[in-house]
Amino acid sequence: MSKSTSRHFIPKKTITVLAIILSFVSFMSFASKDATMKKTPNQKSISKDSLESVQAFMKVYDVLMHPRCMNCHPKGDVPLQGDDSHLHTMLPRRGKNGDGIYAMKCKNCHQPENAPGLHTPPGNPKWALPPADMKMVFEGKSPRELALQIMNFNKNGHKNKEKLLEHARDTLVKAGWNMGEGRVAPPLPYDEFVKAWDTWIEKGGYAPKAK
Ligand code: HEC
Ligand code: HEC
Repeated sequence: MSKSTSRHFIPKKTITVLAIILSFVSFMSFASKDATMKKTPNQKSISKDSLESVQAFMKVYDVLMHPRCMNCHPKGDVPLQGDDSHLHTMLPRRGKNGDGIYAMKCKNCHQPENAPGLHTPPGNPKWALPPADMKMVFEGKSPRELALQIMNFNKNGHKNKEKLLEHARDTLVKAGWNMGEGRVAPPLPYDEFVKAWDTWIEKGGYAPKAK
């Protein structure tokens, strides 16, 4: 046997081993492809999730746009009042932090608890508008605009998914269902609001299509 043929000589055993390795490699690549396919939901489940997400958001939207919520999420710098969302009497202003300006601080009148009686200030320890550098306006927003705003970390008060889920449990949000005598609650019971909120976000936080 010359030197050159011995260099090219491959024993049968090696060929069998190579064949086994090759088929193993191709099996593995198939298996991993299968795994990634399972991880990314197929088209059908994406549209099912987005449908359920948007449906849930529409319930959430009815609450967000209700006077009990919108009155503190105005487009101007004066809070709104009542079921007709008129400008707050005496025009208290947002101020830098949302809690009023100079002598007109929200907490001068809005105590930690609701005051008894009709037309008295509702109360909460955190009573304020969102701050001037992130106004979180609800008033006048379409469902799509509002969904996009709330899912935007740079517009929602820097809330990640976890913080957003938590926010539905915030005492200021809960206050919407307990605003003192004579004030009607939002259109959905609190528990159902939380359920719709969670579904909207857990299913992907989708925004409804523009009309
Ligand atoms: C001078 C007292 C006073 C100050 C200051 C004040 N409020 Fe009020 N606020 C009231 C009173 C009284 C009511 C209830 C009016 C009524 O029901 O007719 C009220 C009602 C409201 C309502 C309406 C609740 C609803 O859903 O109808 C909101 C919202 C509100 N205030 C937000 C604020 C914010 C935010 C600030 C600070 C920027 C503030 N208020 C400062 C006295 C005040
Ligand atoms: C007394 C005023 C007040 C009332 C009433 C109020 N909010 Fe807010 N809301 C705030 C403030 C202040 C912030 C900003 C603080 C924060 O992000 O935690 C905020 C932030 C939010 C955010 C995040 C905003 C965004 O655009 O991403 C949501 C969502 C929200 N509120 C929902 C509600 C709902 C739902 C209700 C009614 C059930 C409600 N709020 C009633 C004052 C209020």
